[in-house]
Amino acid sequence: MDSIHICGGYPLCGETRIQGSKNAVLPVLAATVLVNGISTLYNCPKIADVQCMIKLLESTGCRVTWKGDTITVDACHISSTSLPGEYVSRMRSSVILMGALLGREGQVSISYPGGCVIGKRPIDMHLEAFARMGVALTETCGVLTARAQTLTGGSIPLAFPSVGATENVILAAALAGGETVICGGAQEPEIGALCEFLIQAGADICRDGDGTVVVRGVPALHTVTYRIPPDRIVAGTYLMGCMAAGGQIFLRGADGGQLGAALTVIRQMGGVCTCCPEGIGLVMEGRPAAVACLKTAVYPGFPTDLQSQLLAALTVAKGESVIEETVFENRFRVVPELVRMGAQMKTEGNRVRICGVERLHGACVTAQELRGGAALCMAALAAHGDSRICNRHFIDRGYASLEADIRSLGGRI
Ligand code: UD1
Repeated sequence: MDSIHICGGYPLCGETRIQGSKNAVLPVLAATVLVNGISTLYNCPKIADVQCMIKLLESTGCRVTWKGDTITVDACHISSTSLPGEYVSRMRSSVILMGALLGREGQVSISYPGGCVIGKRPIDMHLEAFARMGVALTETCGVLTARAQTLTGGSIPLAFPSVGATENVILAAALAGGETVICGGAQEPEIGALCEFLIQAGADICRDGDGTVVVRGVPALHTVTYRIPPDRIVAGTYLMGCMAAGGQIFLRGADGGQLGAALTVIRQMGGVCTCCPEGIGLVMEGRPAAVACLKTAVYPGFPTDLQSQLLAALTVAKGESVIEETVFENRFRVVPELVRMGAQMKTEGNRVRICGVERLHGACVTAQELRGGAALCMAALAAHGDSRICNRHFIDRGYASLEADIRSLGGRI
């Protein structure tokens, strides 16, 4: 059944463990292609995007096993550098296999990647960076072929701190000749996870606090084990659910240090958060306070991946809020669905104006993409009565156990 049924209007109460991070495990899985040996990854989330990445790895000749939350990848023999369009089109992250295969084999063929429809999402920065590293690009019938006689490091300035482009350059540079210096790279925690994995496999990578990444190519990477960090966006989603529905929750394993901007907003809205080494606790009583003006931003700013969930919480805030989206140009597809639940909100270009209502009501709504779909579930927890959220397959791309988590947090799902 491609829908989720929630009976809302009750405060949350309970605790759940936060899954491993989607945006960390995907680039780390891509990085296993560079390892001439076995990579063992713990705490991998059972989500559709990981399944898709495994299919792509297997298409290159990697041998993959997935038992419980542990994935092992044997990348000793790479037999193909041509990525099947069927899986590439499902997920934008497939593009980071370009850097990994270029690094390992010096070539890759890929159709233009797919993923959630949240804007134009071009890959021009990835391709410009590869060209600077000596990669020749050709395109025939929508299939892009990238080849490098010798992949060489150099200076790679990024016009915008793109997460995927930064990851792709790091992957291409790990085994390249010489030194690669990325200026203006992304600083999201998932970049840190990718670098940690590669360093543990023998790569030579230094990062400083301003988005500079220096990668000195090494001849080979070796067998490695790595634990995927907790998913900050899943944790932030449940925090926003509690802000909307009220109650008291504890998110075991969540890392408060990675959620600074979100926790600041939650506190402004009246939530009482406590961070400890075991996780994050939140107590929320009554309706949240409105947020006069907030812009999404690259890390350490407020994450675009939590914007829809914040909108869900602000639909029941006391007063008017304005949220501006600065990272993606088409990320308000959740708005008309929230309006079906009784929200009063309007988009104005890249802004949404929300006039908080006392309560939402249950409705049949449709997820249009991953984070917007999760936001609808959070709104449904607050909405009085029954809601059905259709198109749950979008949500399954990133949430390993949404039903079990919501049930553990006291929601009726
Ligand atoms: C990653 C995350 C995604 C998150 C996003 C921003 C993963 C798997 N996905 O996506 O969840 O929402 O970061 O934090 O980690 N852009 C270009 N040209 C390029 C590359 C990007 O114009 O070559 C633009 C995009 O259209 C977008 C912005 O830059 O407007 C940010 O994109 P980017 O940081 O690359 O996001 P992703 O890596 O796709």
